[in-house]
Amino acid sequence: MPTRRRFLTATLGVAGLSALSPTVSQALSPHAGHGAPAADPHAGHGVKPVADPHAAHGAKADAHGAPGSLAVVERMPAGAVLRDLPRLHNHATRAGLFQGELIAAPVRVSLIEGESTEVWAFNGILPGPMIEVREGDTVEIRFTNRLPQPSTLHWHGLPVPPDQDGNPHEIVAPGESRLYRFTLPAGSAGTYWYHPHPHGHTSEQAFRGLAGAFIVRAADDPLRALPERHLFISDLRLMADGLIPQNTMDDVMDGREGQFVMINAQRQPVIAVARTERWRIWNACNARYLDLSLEGMTITQVGTDGGLFEKPQTELVSLLLAPAERAEIVVSPGPRTSATTLVARPYSRGKMAANAEDMRVTLATVKLAAGPVAILPAQLRKVAALGMAERVRTLVLSEAMGKDMRFMIDGKTFDMGRIDIETMVGLVEHWDIRNDADMDHPFHLHGVQFQVVSRRQDGITEHAPYLAWKDTVNIEPDETVRIRVAQQYAGLRVYHCHILEHEEAGMMGQLLIHPRA
Ligand code: C2O
Ligand code: CU
Ligand code: CU
Repeated sequence: MPTRRRFLTATLGVAGLSALSPTVSQALSPHAGHGAPAADPHAGHGVKPVADPHAAHGAKADAHGAPGSLAVVERMPAGAVLRDLPRLHNHATRAGLFQGELIAAPVRVSLIEGESTEVWAFNGILPGPMIEVREGDTVEIRFTNRLPQPSTLHWHGLPVPPDQDGNPHEIVAPGESRLYRFTLPAGSAGTYWYHPHPHGHTSEQAFRGLAGAFIVRAADDPLRALPERHLFISDLRLMADGLIPQNTMDDVMDGREGQFVMINAQRQPVIAVARTERWRIWNACNARYLDLSLEGMTITQVGTDGGLFEKPQTELVSLLLAPAERAEIVVSPGPRTSATTLVARPYSRGKMAANAEDMRVTLATVKLAAGPVAILPAQLRKVAALGMAERVRTLVLSEAMGKDMRFMIDGKTFDMGRIDIETMVGLVEHWDIRNDADMDHPFHLHGVQFQVVSRRQDGITEHAPYLAWKDTVNIEPDETVRIRVAQQYAGLRVYHCHILEHEEAGMMGQLLIHPRA
Protein backbone atom coordinates (compact mmCIF):
# COMPACT_ATOMS: atom_id res chain seq x y z
CA MET A 1 0.00 0.00 0.00
CA PRO A 2 1.17 3.50 -0.69
CA THR A 3 2.46 4.92 2.53
CA ARG A 4 1.87 8.57 1.85
CA ARG A 5 -1.80 8.37 1.06
CA ARG A 6 -4.13 10.58 3.02
CA PHE A 7 -7.77 11.00 2.26
CA LEU A 8 -9.52 14.35 2.18
CA THR A 9 -7.20 16.06 4.50
CA ALA A 10 -7.68 19.72 4.57
CA THR A 11 -5.84 22.80 3.77
CA LEU A 12 -3.90 26.00 3.13
CA GLY A 13 -1.70 27.43 0.59
CA VAL A 14 -0.10 30.40 -0.65
CA ALA A 15 1.31 33.10 1.30
CA GLY A 16 4.73 33.33 2.54
CA LEU A 17 5.80 36.70 3.66
CA SER A 18 8.64 38.51 2.22
CA ALA A 19 10.53 41.68 1.81
CA LEU A 20 11.93 43.77 -0.86
CA SER A 21 15.20 43.48 -2.66
CA PRO A 22 16.96 46.76 -3.37
CA THR A 23 16.30 46.35 -7.07
CA VAL A 24 12.60 46.06 -6.52
CA SER A 25 12.54 48.88 -3.99
CA GLN A 26 14.15 51.21 -6.46
CA ALA A 27 11.37 50.48 -8.88
CA LEU A 28 8.98 51.80 -6.28
CA SER A 29 9.86 55.42 -6.57
CA PRO A 30 6.56 56.39 -8.26
CA HIS A 31 4.89 55.36 -5.02
CA ALA A 32 6.99 57.38 -2.69
CA GLY A 33 4.55 58.99 -0.36
CA HIS A 34 2.76 55.76 0.41
CA GLY A 35 5.42 54.63 2.77
CA ALA A 36 7.57 53.05 0.11
CA PRO A 37 11.18 54.03 0.21
CA ALA A 38 12.30 55.90 -2.84
CA ALA A 39 15.77 55.41 -4.18
CA ASP A 40 17.46 53.93 -1.17
CA PRO A 41 15.48 51.32 0.69
CA HIS A 42 18.16 50.95 3.30
CA ALA A 43 18.69 54.55 4.19
CA GLY A 44 18.81 54.66 7.94
CA HIS A 45 19.44 50.96 8.28
CA GLY A 46 23.15 51.15 7.75
CA VAL A 47 23.23 48.89 4.72
CA LYS A 48 24.53 50.16 1.42
CA PRO A 49 22.19 49.66 -1.51
CA VAL A 50 23.68 47.67 -4.32
CA ALA A 51 22.51 46.85 -7.79
CA ASP A 52 22.46 43.09 -7.35
CA PRO A 53 20.02 41.98 -4.67
CA HIS A 54 22.00 38.84 -4.06
CA ALA A 55 25.19 40.72 -3.46
CA ALA A 56 23.48 42.83 -0.82
CA HIS A 57 23.45 40.10 1.76
CA GLY A 58 27.14 40.49 2.26
CA ALA A 59 26.67 43.86 3.87
CA LYS A 60 26.95 42.48 7.38
CA ALA A 61 28.78 39.52 8.82
CA ASP A 62 28.41 38.69 12.45
CA ALA A 63 26.82 36.19 14.78
CA HIS A 64 23.50 36.87 13.09
CA GLY A 65 24.56 34.95 10.03
CA ALA A 66 27.36 34.84 7.52
CA PRO A 67 27.20 37.14 4.49
CA GLY A 68 24.61 35.94 2.04
CA SER A 69 23.22 33.42 4.50
CA LEU A 70 19.74 32.95 5.84
CA ALA A 71 18.77 34.59 9.10
CA VAL A 72 18.92 32.13 11.95
CA VAL A 73 15.44 31.23 13.08
CA GLU A 74 15.99 32.28 16.70
CA ARG A 75 16.32 35.91 15.63
CA MET A 76 12.56 36.13 15.27
CA PRO A 77 10.96 36.53 18.70
CA ALA A 78 8.81 33.58 19.78
CA GLY A 79 6.54 32.55 22.60
CA ALA A 80 4.04 35.42 22.66
CA VAL A 81 0.33 34.80 23.05
CA LEU A 82 -1.32 34.15 19.67
CA ARG A 83 -2.95 37.32 18.37
CA ASP A 84 -6.37 37.39 16.80
CA LEU A 85 -6.41 38.27 13.13
CA PRO A 86 -7.49 41.90 12.78
CA ARG A 87 -10.77 42.15 10.86
CA LEU A 88 -11.36 44.30 7.83
CA HIS A 89 -13.63 47.18 8.75
CA ASN A 90 -17.10 47.08 7.21
CA HIS A 91 -18.13 50.56 6.05
CA ALA A 92 -21.64 49.55 5.01
CA THR A 93 -24.53 51.03 6.91
CA ARG A 94 -27.11 48.39 6.10
CA ALA A 95 -27.37 44.70 6.90
CA GLY A 96 -26.54 42.29 4.10
CA LEU A 97 -23.79 44.46 2.66
CA PHE A 98 -20.07 44.37 3.40
CA GLN A 99 -18.00 47.26 2.06
CA GLY A 100 -14.31 47.33 2.68
CA GLU A 101 -11.04 48.54 1.27
CA LEU A 102 -7.79 46.68 0.66
CA ILE A 103 -4.59 48.43 -0.34
CA ALA A 104 -1.57 46.38 -1.38
CA ALA A 105 1.64 48.29 -0.71
CA PRO A 106 5.21 47.88 0.50
CA VAL A 107 5.67 48.44 4.22
CA ARG A 108 8.66 48.15 6.48
CA VAL A 109 8.25 45.94 9.53
CA SER A 110 10.44 44.51 12.23
CA LEU A 111 10.55 40.73 12.02
CA ILE A 112 14.03 39.77 13.19
CA GLU A 113 16.27 41.33 15.79
CA GLY A 114 18.53 44.05 14.53
CA GLU A 115 17.03 44.45 11.05
CA SER A 116 13.90 45.71 9.44
CA THR A 117 12.24 44.01 6.52
CA GLU A 118 10.26 45.43 3.67
CA VAL A 119 7.20 43.27 3.06
CA TRP A 120 4.25 43.73 0.74
CA ALA A 121 1.09 43.83 2.77
CA PHE A 122 -2.64 44.50 2.60
CA ASN A 123 -3.46 47.58 4.66
CA GLY A 124 0.00 47.45 6.19
CA ILE A 125 -0.45 44.27 8.20
CA LEU A 126 0.64 40.64 8.09
CA PRO A 127 -1.35 38.66 7.28
CA GLY A 128 -3.93 40.86 5.56
CA PRO A 129 -7.07 41.77 7.50
CA MET A 130 -9.61 38.98 7.87
CA ILE A 131 -12.89 39.45 6.02
CA GLU A 132 -15.87 38.02 7.82
CA VAL A 133 -19.32 37.90 6.20
CA ARG A 134 -22.52 35.87 6.23
CA GLU A 135 -24.18 33.74 3.58
CA GLY A 136 -26.38 35.97 1.46
CA ASP A 137 -24.22 39.05 1.97
CA THR A 138 -23.18 41.23 -0.94
CA VAL A 139 -19.48 42.04 -0.70
CA GLU A 140 -17.88 45.14 -2.21
CA ILE A 141 -14.14 45.46 -1.86
CA ARG A 142 -12.28 48.43 -3.27
CA PHE A 143 -8.77 47.27 -4.14
CA THR A 144 -5.88 49.65 -4.71
CA ASN A 145 -2.57 48.46 -6.08
CA ARG A 146 0.40 50.42 -4.77
CA LEU A 147 2.89 47.73 -5.75
CA PRO A 148 5.50 48.20 -8.47
CA GLN A 149 3.78 45.39 -10.44
CA PRO A 150 0.34 44.57 -11.76
CA SER A 151 -1.86 42.73 -9.30
CA THR A 152 -5.35 41.33 -8.72
CA LEU A 153 -7.41 40.09 -5.79
CA HIS A 154 -8.43 36.46 -6.10
CA TRP A 155 -11.11 35.05 -3.77
CA HIS A 156 -9.75 31.57 -3.29
CA GLY A 157 -12.54 29.00 -3.14
CA LEU A 158 -15.45 31.44 -3.17
CA PRO A 159 -18.25 31.03 -5.72
CA VAL A 160 -17.89 34.45 -7.30
CA PRO A 161 -18.50 35.34 -10.98
CA PRO A 162 -15.36 34.93 -13.11
CA ASP A 163 -15.08 38.66 -13.86
CA GLN A 164 -14.97 39.42 -10.12
CA ASP A 165 -12.47 36.69 -9.26
CA GLY A 166 -9.14 38.45 -9.84
CA ASN A 167 -8.09 36.12 -12.64
CA PRO A 168 -4.82 36.75 -14.48
CA HIS A 169 -6.80 38.46 -17.29
CA GLU A 170 -8.27 41.10 -14.99
CA ILE A 171 -5.17 43.07 -14.08
CA VAL A 172 -5.09 46.10 -11.80
CA ALA A 173 -2.09 48.16 -12.90
CA PRO A 174 0.28 49.83 -10.42
CA GLY A 175 -1.42 52.92 -8.98
CA GLU A 176 -4.90 51.84 -10.10
CA SER A 177 -7.86 50.56 -8.19
CA ARG A 178 -11.02 48.60 -8.92
CA LEU A 179 -14.13 47.39 -7.19
CA TYR A 180 -14.82 43.68 -6.70
CA ARG A 181 -18.47 42.90 -6.12
CA PHE A 182 -20.21 39.59 -5.49
CA THR A 183 -23.03 38.03 -3.49
CA LEU A 184 -22.40 34.87 -1.50
CA PRO A 185 -25.09 32.25 -1.93
CA ALA A 186 -26.72 30.09 0.73
CA GLY A 187 -24.60 27.04 1.45
CA SER A 188 -21.30 28.84 0.90
CA ALA A 189 -20.29 29.04 4.58
CA GLY A 190 -16.67 28.01 4.89
CA THR A 191 -13.05 28.99 5.34
CA TYR A 192 -11.57 30.84 2.40
CA TRP A 193 -8.82 33.32 1.70
CA TYR A 194 -7.69 35.97 -0.73
CA HIS A 195 -4.40 36.59 -2.48
CA PRO A 196 -3.12 38.24 -5.68
CA HIS A 197 -3.18 36.31 -8.99
CA PRO A 198 -1.39 38.35 -11.70
CA HIS A 199 0.35 35.96 -14.05
CA GLY A 200 4.09 35.92 -13.49
CA HIS A 201 3.90 37.75 -10.15
CA THR A 202 1.65 35.58 -7.97
CA SER A 203 4.46 33.70 -6.27
CA GLU A 204 6.40 36.84 -5.45
CA GLN A 205 3.42 38.83 -4.21
CA ALA A 206 2.41 35.94 -1.98
CA PHE A 207 5.89 35.29 -0.60
CA ARG A 208 6.32 38.98 0.15
CA GLY A 209 3.25 38.88 2.37
CA LEU A 210 0.05 39.41 0.40
CA ALA A 211 -2.70 37.10 1.65
CA GLY A 212 -5.57 37.22 4.08
CA ALA A 213 -8.36 35.12 5.57
CA PHE A 214 -12.00 35.18 4.47
CA ILE A 215 -14.75 33.52 6.47
CA VAL A 216 -18.35 33.03 5.37
CA ARG A 217 -20.78 32.20 8.18
CA ALA A 218 -24.10 30.37 8.03
CA ALA A 219 -27.09 31.56 10.02
CA ASP A 220 -27.73 28.01 11.18
CA ASP A 221 -24.11 27.16 12.05
CA PRO A 222 -24.27 24.10 14.34
CA LEU A 223 -21.00 25.08 16.05
CA ARG A 224 -21.81 28.76 16.61
CA ALA A 225 -21.67 28.32 20.39
CA LEU A 226 -17.95 27.48 20.29
CA PRO A 227 -15.36 30.24 20.59
CA GLU A 228 -13.23 30.45 17.45
CA ARG A 229 -9.54 30.67 16.87
CA HIS A 230 -7.88 31.42 13.56
CA LEU A 231 -4.50 30.03 12.58
CA PHE A 232 -3.30 31.53 9.32
CA ILE A 233 -0.06 29.70 8.62
CA SER A 234 2.53 31.09 6.23
CA ASP A 235 6.26 30.79 5.80
CA LEU A 236 8.84 33.42 5.08
CA ARG A 237 12.42 33.37 3.91
CA LEU A 238 14.69 36.07 5.27
CA MET A 239 18.37 36.65 4.72
CA ALA A 240 20.62 37.56 7.65
CA ASP A 241 20.27 41.24 6.74
CA GLY A 242 16.47 41.10 6.83
CA LEU A 243 15.87 41.02 3.08
CA ILE A 244 13.44 38.71 1.38
CA PRO A 245 15.39 37.11 -1.47
CA GLN A 246 14.11 36.34 -4.95
CA ASN A 247 13.29 32.79 -6.01
CA THR A 248 16.18 30.53 -6.97
CA MET A 249 16.11 27.78 -9.59
CA ASP A 250 15.58 25.30 -6.76
CA ASP A 251 12.53 27.28 -5.68
CA VAL A 252 11.08 27.07 -9.17
CA MET A 253 11.65 23.32 -9.11
CA ASP A 254 10.48 22.43 -5.60
CA GLY A 255 8.43 25.45 -4.69
CA ARG A 256 9.65 28.08 -2.27
CA GLU A 257 9.80 27.38 1.44
CA GLY A 258 10.92 29.86 4.08
CA GLN A 259 12.78 29.09 7.29
CA PHE A 260 10.22 30.99 9.36
CA VAL A 261 6.91 29.18 9.66
CA MET A 262 4.45 31.46 11.37
CA ILE A 263 0.89 31.49 12.64
CA ASN A 264 -0.77 34.89 12.17
CA ALA A 265 2.76 36.16 11.40
CA GLN A 266 4.04 35.01 14.81
CA ARG A 267 6.73 32.42 15.41
CA GLN A 268 5.81 29.70 17.89
CA PRO A 269 2.99 31.54 19.64
CA VAL A 270 1.25 30.25 22.73
CA ILE A 271 -2.40 29.23 22.57
CA ALA A 272 -4.29 28.76 25.84
CA VAL A 273 -7.38 26.57 25.64
CA ALA A 274 -9.78 26.71 28.60
CA ARG A 275 -12.89 25.30 26.94
CA THR A 276 -13.75 23.56 23.69
CA GLU A 277 -12.75 25.75 20.74
CA ARG A 278 -13.24 25.68 17.02
CA TRP A 279 -10.03 26.32 15.08
CA ARG A 280 -9.88 27.35 11.47
CA ILE A 281 -6.49 26.65 9.94
CA TRP A 282 -5.14 27.93 6.63
CA ASN A 283 -2.04 26.71 4.79
CA ALA A 284 -1.10 29.97 3.11
CA CYS A 285 2.45 28.87 2.30
CA ASN A 286 3.64 29.04 -1.31
CA ALA A 287 4.83 25.43 -1.30
CA ARG A 288 5.24 24.07 2.21
CA TYR A 289 3.11 21.09 3.18
CA LEU A 290 1.82 21.07 6.75
CA ASP A 291 1.29 17.63 8.20
CA LEU A 292 -0.20 18.92 11.41
CA SER A 293 -0.34 17.09 14.69
CA LEU A 294 -1.01 17.98 18.31
CA GLU A 295 1.58 15.90 20.06
CA GLY A 296 0.17 13.20 22.28
CA MET A 297 -3.38 13.99 21.19
CA THR A 298 -5.65 13.09 18.35
CA ILE A 299 -7.41 15.66 16.19
CA THR A 300 -11.13 16.04 15.62
CA GLN A 301 -11.73 17.55 12.20
CA VAL A 302 -15.12 19.07 11.48
CA GLY A 303 -14.59 20.76 8.15
CA THR A 304 -12.39 21.51 5.19
CA ASP A 305 -12.08 24.15 2.43
CA GLY A 306 -15.77 24.60 1.66
CA GLY A 307 -17.15 24.27 5.17
CA LEU A 308 -18.33 21.64 7.61
CA PHE A 309 -18.44 17.91 7.00
CA GLU A 310 -21.64 16.01 7.65
CA LYS A 311 -20.07 14.42 10.71
CA PRO A 312 -17.01 15.14 12.82
CA GLN A 313 -14.01 12.95 11.94
CA THR A 314 -12.41 11.92 15.21
CA GLU A 315 -9.16 10.29 16.35
CA LEU A 316 -7.00 11.66 13.55
CA VAL A 317 -3.31 11.27 14.30
CA SER A 318 -2.41 14.01 11.86
CA LEU A 319 -3.97 16.35 9.37
CA LEU A 320 -2.22 17.09 6.09
CA LEU A 321 -2.77 20.53 4.64
CA ALA A 322 -1.21 20.96 1.22
CA PRO A 323 -0.64 24.56 0.08
CA ALA A 324 -3.99 26.42 -0.12
CA GLU A 325 -5.99 23.85 1.82
CA ARG A 326 -7.92 24.75 4.97
CA ALA A 327 -9.35 22.78 7.87
CA GLU A 328 -11.69 23.27 10.77
CA ILE A 329 -10.88 21.30 13.88
CA VAL A 330 -12.19 21.23 17.43
CA VAL A 331 -9.77 21.38 20.35
CA SER A 332 -10.86 20.62 23.89
CA PRO A 333 -9.25 21.07 27.31
CA GLY A 334 -8.30 17.97 29.24
CA PRO A 335 -9.16 16.45 32.59
CA ARG A 336 -6.15 18.23 34.08
CA THR A 337 -3.83 21.05 33.13
CA SER A 338 -1.36 20.07 30.44
CA ALA A 339 0.53 21.35 27.46
CA THR A 340 1.24 20.08 23.99
CA THR A 341 2.77 21.40 20.82
CA LEU A 342 1.27 21.92 17.42
CA VAL A 343 3.82 20.63 14.94
CA ALA A 344 4.17 20.10 11.23
CA ARG A 345 5.65 16.64 10.85
CA PRO A 346 8.17 15.98 8.12
CA TYR A 347 6.26 15.22 4.94
CA SER A 348 8.05 13.84 1.94
CA ARG A 349 6.57 15.37 -1.20
CA GLY A 350 9.31 14.39 -3.59
CA LYS A 351 11.45 17.53 -3.55
CA MET A 352 14.30 17.26 -6.01
CA ALA A 353 16.89 19.88 -5.08
CA ALA A 354 20.16 18.42 -3.83
CA ASN A 355 19.87 19.83 -0.33
CA ALA A 356 16.10 19.61 0.01
CA GLU A 357 15.06 18.43 3.44
CA ASP A 358 11.74 17.64 5.01
CA MET A 359 11.96 18.88 8.54
CA ARG A 360 9.73 18.83 11.53
CA VAL A 361 8.60 22.30 12.55
CA THR A 362 7.20 23.39 15.90
CA LEU A 363 4.34 25.78 15.19
CA ALA A 364 2.84 26.60 18.57
CA THR A 365 2.65 25.72 22.24
CA VAL A 366 -0.85 24.75 23.27
CA LYS A 367 -1.71 25.06 26.97
CA LEU A 368 -4.72 23.06 28.00
CA ALA A 369 -6.53 24.03 31.18
CA ALA A 370 -8.66 21.51 32.99
CA GLY A 371 -12.07 22.48 31.70
CA PRO A 372 -15.42 21.52 30.30
CA VAL A 373 -15.55 19.60 27.03
CA ALA A 374 -18.37 20.40 24.62
CA ILE A 375 -20.25 17.52 23.04
CA LEU A 376 -20.42 17.95 19.27
CA PRO A 377 -23.60 17.29 17.34
CA ALA A 378 -23.45 13.90 15.62
CA GLN A 379 -24.63 15.55 12.40
CA LEU A 380 -23.14 18.94 11.51
CA ARG A 381 -25.01 19.59 8.28
CA LYS A 382 -26.08 17.91 5.05
CA VAL A 383 -23.54 17.65 2.25
CA ALA A 384 -25.54 16.62 -0.81
CA ALA A 385 -23.80 14.61 -3.50
CA LEU A 386 -23.49 16.35 -6.85
CA GLY A 387 -25.62 14.51 -9.44
CA MET A 388 -24.38 11.80 -11.78
CA ALA A 389 -21.53 12.91 -13.99
CA GLU A 390 -22.53 13.60 -17.58
CA ARG A 391 -18.98 13.55 -18.87
CA VAL A 392 -15.52 12.41 -17.88
CA ARG A 393 -12.28 14.27 -18.58
CA THR A 394 -8.72 13.32 -17.94
CA LEU A 395 -6.06 15.82 -16.92
CA VAL A 396 -2.41 14.88 -16.65
CA LEU A 397 0.14 16.73 -14.54
CA SER A 398 3.76 16.42 -15.61
CA GLU A 399 7.20 17.95 -15.15
CA ALA A 400 10.20 18.43 -17.42
CA MET A 401 13.38 19.10 -15.46
CA GLY A 402 16.57 20.58 -16.72
CA LYS A 403 17.59 23.94 -18.09
CA ASP A 404 14.08 24.87 -19.09
CA MET A 405 12.16 23.58 -16.15
CA ARG A 406 8.54 23.18 -17.14
CA PHE A 407 5.46 22.18 -15.25
CA MET A 408 2.58 21.12 -17.47
CA ILE A 409 -1.02 20.08 -17.62
CA ASP A 410 -1.82 17.79 -20.53
CA GLY A 411 1.66 18.32 -21.88
CA LYS A 412 1.29 22.10 -22.16
CA THR A 413 2.47 25.06 -20.16
CA PHE A 414 0.02 27.88 -19.44
CA ASP A 415 -0.99 30.18 -22.28
CA MET A 416 -3.39 32.99 -21.51
CA GLY A 417 -4.44 33.02 -25.16
CA ARG A 418 -5.50 29.37 -25.23
CA ILE A 419 -8.67 27.73 -23.93
CA ASP A 420 -7.87 24.25 -22.65
CA ILE A 421 -11.28 23.02 -21.55
CA GLU A 422 -14.82 24.04 -22.44
CA THR A 423 -17.89 23.20 -20.46
CA MET A 424 -21.35 24.49 -19.64
CA VAL A 425 -22.98 25.94 -16.55
CA GLY A 426 -24.50 23.19 -14.41
CA LEU A 427 -22.96 20.27 -16.31
CA VAL A 428 -21.74 17.68 -13.80
CA GLU A 429 -18.33 16.32 -14.79
CA HIS A 430 -15.80 13.87 -13.48
CA TRP A 431 -12.24 15.07 -13.73
CA ASP A 432 -9.68 12.31 -13.45
CA ILE A 433 -6.53 14.19 -12.57
CA ARG A 434 -3.43 12.04 -12.91
CA ASN A 435 -0.07 12.98 -11.52
CA ASP A 436 2.62 11.69 -13.89
CA ALA A 437 5.28 13.73 -12.15
CA ASP A 438 7.72 12.87 -9.37
CA MET A 439 6.44 15.40 -6.87
CA ASP A 440 3.11 15.87 -5.13
CA HIS A 441 1.03 18.66 -6.69
CA PRO A 442 -1.93 20.36 -4.96
CA PHE A 443 -4.56 20.83 -7.68
CA HIS A 444 -6.87 23.83 -7.42
CA LEU A 445 -9.86 24.83 -9.53
CA HIS A 446 -11.29 28.35 -9.36
CA GLY A 447 -14.81 29.42 -8.60
CA VAL A 448 -16.40 26.24 -7.25
CA GLN A 449 -16.24 23.65 -4.55
CA PHE A 450 -15.91 20.11 -5.85
CA GLN A 451 -16.23 16.66 -4.29
CA VAL A 452 -13.46 14.10 -4.31
CA VAL A 453 -14.92 10.82 -5.53
CA SER A 454 -11.97 8.44 -5.40
CA ARG A 455 -8.20 8.06 -5.49
CA ARG A 456 -6.37 5.45 -7.52
CA GLN A 457 -2.76 4.45 -7.02
CA ASP A 458 -0.85 1.22 -7.63
CA GLY A 459 -3.95 -0.29 -9.19
CA ILE A 460 -6.00 0.21 -6.04
CA THR A 461 -9.03 2.49 -6.04
CA GLU A 462 -10.10 4.00 -2.77
CA HIS A 463 -13.50 5.68 -2.65
CA ALA A 464 -13.94 8.82 -0.61
CA PRO A 465 -15.19 7.70 2.79
CA TYR A 466 -17.44 10.74 3.14
CA LEU A 467 -18.58 13.78 1.17
CA ALA A 468 -16.85 17.13 1.56
CA TRP A 469 -16.56 20.40 -0.37
CA LYS A 470 -13.04 21.09 -1.56
CA ASP A 471 -11.33 23.52 -3.92
CA THR A 472 -7.79 22.17 -3.58
CA VAL A 473 -6.74 18.53 -3.48
CA ASN A 474 -3.30 17.03 -3.17
CA ILE A 475 -2.26 14.47 -5.77
CA GLU A 476 0.69 12.18 -5.17
CA PRO A 477 2.98 10.89 -7.91
CA ASP A 478 1.33 8.05 -9.86
CA GLU A 479 -1.98 8.85 -8.28
CA THR A 480 -5.24 9.68 -10.04
CA VAL A 481 -7.80 11.68 -8.13
CA ARG A 482 -11.35 11.75 -9.45
CA ILE A 483 -13.36 14.83 -8.57
CA ARG A 484 -16.99 15.63 -9.35
CA VAL A 485 -17.68 19.22 -10.26
CA ALA A 486 -20.25 21.55 -11.79
CA GLN A 487 -19.58 25.21 -12.59
CA GLN A 488 -22.15 27.81 -11.61
CA TYR A 489 -21.22 30.84 -13.72
CA ALA A 490 -20.41 31.38 -17.37
CA GLY A 491 -16.99 32.82 -18.14
CA LEU A 492 -13.30 32.09 -18.01
CA ARG A 493 -11.64 30.32 -15.08
CA VAL A 494 -8.25 28.82 -14.37
CA TYR A 495 -7.09 25.66 -12.62
CA HIS A 496 -3.56 25.08 -11.47
CA CYS A 497 -1.05 23.58 -9.09
CA HIS A 498 -1.10 25.66 -5.89
CA ILE A 499 2.63 25.40 -5.41
CA LEU A 500 2.77 28.91 -6.77
CA GLU A 501 6.17 28.51 -8.39
CA HIS A 502 4.81 25.54 -10.36
CA GLU A 503 1.76 27.53 -11.39
CA GLU A 504 4.08 30.24 -12.63
CA ALA A 505 6.30 27.74 -14.42
CA GLY A 506 3.30 26.61 -16.46
CA MET A 507 1.15 24.20 -14.46
CA MET A 508 -2.09 26.05 -15.12
CA GLY A 509 -4.88 25.81 -17.66
CA GLN A 510 -7.97 27.73 -18.71
CA LEU A 511 -11.56 26.64 -18.56
CA LEU A 512 -14.26 28.40 -20.59
CA ILE A 513 -17.76 27.91 -19.22
CA HIS A 514 -20.62 28.50 -21.65
CA PRO A 515 -24.09 29.52 -20.53
CA ARG A 516 -26.54 26.68 -20.16
CA ALA A 517 -27.85 25.84 -23.63
CU1 C2O B 1 -5.41 30.38 -4.43
CU2 C2O B 1 -5.65 30.36 -8.45
O1 C2O B 1 -5.56 30.39 -6.44
CU1 CU C 1 -8.28 30.05 -6.33
CU1 CU D 1 3.07 21.56 -8.33
